[in-house]
Amino acid sequence: MLDDIKRINHEFDAALAGANTAAALDELRVHYFGRKGGLIPALFARLKEVPKEQKKDAGDALNKLRDRLESELNEKHERIAAEESKRKESRDIIDVTLPARLPNLGHLHPVTIVRREMETIFAEMGYSLDPGPEVETDWYNFEALNFTPDHPARDTQDTFFLDVEPYLLRTHTSNVQIRSMEKYKPPVKVLSCGRVYRRDEITMRRSPMFHQAEGFLVDKGIHIGHLRATLEHFIKRLFGADSKMRMRPSFFPFTEPSAEVDMSCVFCKGAGCGTCSQTGWMEILGCGMIHPQVLRNVGIDPEEWNGFAFGLGLDRCAMIKFDIPNIRTLFENDLRVLQQF
Ligand code: PHE
Repeated sequence: MLDDIKRINHEFDAALAGANTAAALDELRVHYFGRKGGLIPALFARLKEVPKEQKKDAGDALNKLRDRLESELNEKHERIAAEESKRKESRDIIDVTLPARLPNLGHLHPVTIVRREMETIFAEMGYSLDPGPEVETDWYNFEALNFTPDHPARDTQDTFFLDVEPYLLRTHTSNVQIRSMEKYKPPVKVLSCGRVYRRDEITMRRSPMFHQAEGFLVDKGIHIGHLRATLEHFIKRLFGADSKMRMRPSFFPFTEPSAEVDMSCVFCKGAGCGTCSQTGWMEILGCGMIHPQVLRNVGIDPEEWNGFAFGLGLDRCAMIKFDIPNIRTLFENDLRVLQQF
């Protein structure tokens, strides 16, 4: 009996050293302590047969063996469990097999998309870009453009005046006509895009701040055919080659003659629908031949030079191009909307 205890003591050390997973340890535990066929319970069963005078020594040795095996199995079990959970934790933190998270890239605003397209179209025709100031004086916004101080057309562009005279927020981008003609000697071709301001209520179609694009050209022998061809090229490029345009007589103080331009409705292609009020046409811009008085105001001789000018709403173009019914959508900056462009 004592010899068997010695042998098991000895074997156990080697077996324990070789068991390095929780599963291997469980197997070892069953081997020694299992109810059926475990070595330790078998030894306890054999105690009965041990002669009386040896019983105490054998019992003591067996108890010791059982205690040692139990505590060493437990200790190693705890160590392995701790190591395994640590390994699992670090696996949770860095899983190199996961697909990379994509960076959250920004989107161009629909008005920016239209502005850039328009700038590209006119840059290809040799136009320079010139933004011009949003805070302007009465002279550049009105007077040099042939709006006399009491001109009734001033009322159609209800103005934000600043506290300091003669400053105001420009009501249109036509101020750039004057500023650029002062800066550059003719011939000039300029496109100018930017914010403009009018004291309007916010509605589906209007906002007190919106965006305009202004184009103009001064050269020799310019006539309305040049204007029409330029606008037709632009409209076909921006809205599609099947777009048509028409000109209607209109009035602006700084152009003579003046016209309003309609293009065929992009939604019904001219057949008539709810968006174009069944007319088949959408109003898109104002234009005309630059008034001789405007040229004189910037020191250009209208006998020698002449030109054309046009202006349009970029917000309106974006609304038409992307089928956005409400102008507010453009300024609310709701990412769910902007991410569609
Ligand atoms: N400035 C005009 C407007 O805001 C548009 C326009 C520009 C008309 C250039 C003619 C020539 O309505």
